[in-house]
Amino acid sequence: MALKTLGQFIIEKQADFPYAKGELSRLLRDIGIAAKVINREVNKAGLADILGENGDHNVQGEAQKKLDVYADEQFIEALSRGGECCYIASEEHEEGIDLTKRSISTKGKYMVCMDPLDGSSNIDLNVSVGSIFSIYRRKDPEQPMNTAEILQFGHEQVAAGYIIYGSSTMLVYTTGKGVNGFTLDPSIGEFCLSHPNMRIPEEGNTYSVNEGNYLKFPQYIKDYIKYCQMEDLATDRPYTSRYIGSMVADLHRTLIIGGIFLYPETSNYPSGKLRLLYECNPMAFIIEQAGGMALSGQQRVLTIKPTHLHQRTPIIIGSTNMVRKVQEFMTRDQ
Ligand code: AHG
Ligand code: MN
Ligand code: MN
Ligand code: MN
Repeated sequence: MALKTLGQFIIEKQADFPYAKGELSRLLRDIGIAAKVINREVNKAGLADILGENGDHNVQGEAQKKLDVYADEQFIEALSRGGECCYIASEEHEEGIDLTKRSISTKGKYMVCMDPLDGSSNIDLNVSVGSIFSIYRRKDPEQPMNTAEILQFGHEQVAAGYIIYGSSTMLVYTTGKGVNGFTLDPSIGEFCLSHPNMRIPEEGNTYSVNEGNYLKFPQYIKDYIKYCQMEDLATDRPYTSRYIGSMVADLHRTLIIGGIFLYPETSNYPSGKLRLLYECNPMAFIIEQAGGMALSGQQRVLTIKPTHLHQRTPIIIGSTNMVRKVQEFMTRDQ
């Protein structure tokens, strides 16, 4: 298959957006640049002084890893320099970053929510980690920038994607017209189209949840986990359990072979652990665009009204038939 780079693909797809004059294309290019720089550090992590903690804690109360900070800096640098982004909400910053107030004042009309390094607990273990991004367009670019503008519904996203730094490095994204995957070819330093028009199977036989929390789960989740473990040849059960602990890696597998990923509400995370703006909304947009489902309780994740940058939400996401089965247990349990 002739190589098609991310840049060529974006320009080719430009026709889908007659109103856009290339700004979104340049923004996606800037994200790709940051991803390549982060990939270089992730790949030599054991050799560079980039492992371990940096001694600080982020707004989430998590011990920050050096790679969390490095990845955050690379995205901010690439987005600031690119000039298409005017505001960044990052997992690693309590407040949003208003790029219109910086020296290189930007006329950018896009805002980016990002998880610069997802799966931090896996960094020092050589297990796949990722980055997640979610892009919104400013509603009123003539007005001064304010935080409230980024608190848009997930279904208003202009684009969303993730990078997975795994056995190969891939960038997977959607602009609302399907999902496409690109694999980094290190020999030319380009992301090349490798997974056109990605679709998630309607059914899978893998469930992905941190069963260490089992006793803290609501009853319908406990019942669903037992259902996954029951013998039933008609439904390919017992299912296989797979939990990597990096949302990007667990959902990339789910997208490729089907399955379901659950991070439910628990007694210590009553609103769930995963963050709406830069984990659940972007991943929900991608999975829905690939033909899957993403719920928080009975509600689509993409219809949750955001109220603050770091709000959390429970999430059940993956193959449609499997998410619908959890819904049945939820309804029965109410
Ligand atoms: P992050 O490293 O960006 O803070 O995200 C970690 C998240 C997510 O990647 C993963 O699915 C989840 O935390 C794992 O949580 P548990 O270790 O509680 O299962
Ligand atoms: Mn994360
Ligand atoms: Mn993170
Ligand atoms: Mn974190």
